[in-house]
Amino acid sequence: MTAARSRIQPLLTEAVLAGRIRELGAQIAADYDGKDLIVVGLLNGVYPFFADLTRAMPMEMDVSFMQVASYHGGTHSTGEVKIIKDLDKAIQGKHCLVVEDIVDTGTTLHKVRNLLQDREPASLKIVTLLDKPSRRKTEVPVDYIGFTIEDKFVVGYGLDFDGKFRNLPFVGVYTP
Ligand code: IMP
Ligand code: MG
Repeated sequence: MTAARSRIQPLLTEAVLAGRIRELGAQIAADYDGKDLIVVGLLNGVYPFFADLTRAMPMEMDVSFMQVASYHGGTHSTGEVKIIKDLDKAIQGKHCLVVEDIVDTGTTLHKVRNLLQDREPASLKIVTLLDKPSRRKTEVPVDYIGFTIEDKFVVGYGLDFDGKFRNLPFVGVYTP
């Protein structure tokens, strides 16, 4: 890990992440006060953010997880999103908040949003820890953003390079 770690330049420290997530949690909990909320996490990258954000929201909620794979062009020219793991609960009539680690081109989230919208939730909002707006190809409304970052490849706090570095407690810029 040491050689690889030297290629990671810290961007958001544990303390900075924790401070912003506390703010986000309080704001979101206030917005959903008294509502029947289900918080949906997109695996795998979301796991640390999801755990910290939901624990910063002092309210009742259901939680559920989903894992999707999207094909950006390539063999699937339709760009369909494939559900690898679906939610274990219905969202119809509930207020649904989707939690994502990072919005890059927006393609994945746009499709997930359409897919969940078809299930007729009472409302559907999105929160992302990180946003890279300069990379957007598909417009998708993002309701809550932790941090807006430049077009750099980041790892840590759930984000991976080739499946690695998700367990780093901070977010750093990765230079291969
Ligand atoms: P997109 O918005 O459809 O392009 O895809 C977003 C997904 O791409 C995220 O959920 C991540 O899995 C991955 N991704 C995008 N940018 C980064 C990054 O800088 N580091 C790690 N994963 C990234
Ligand atoms: Mg992801």
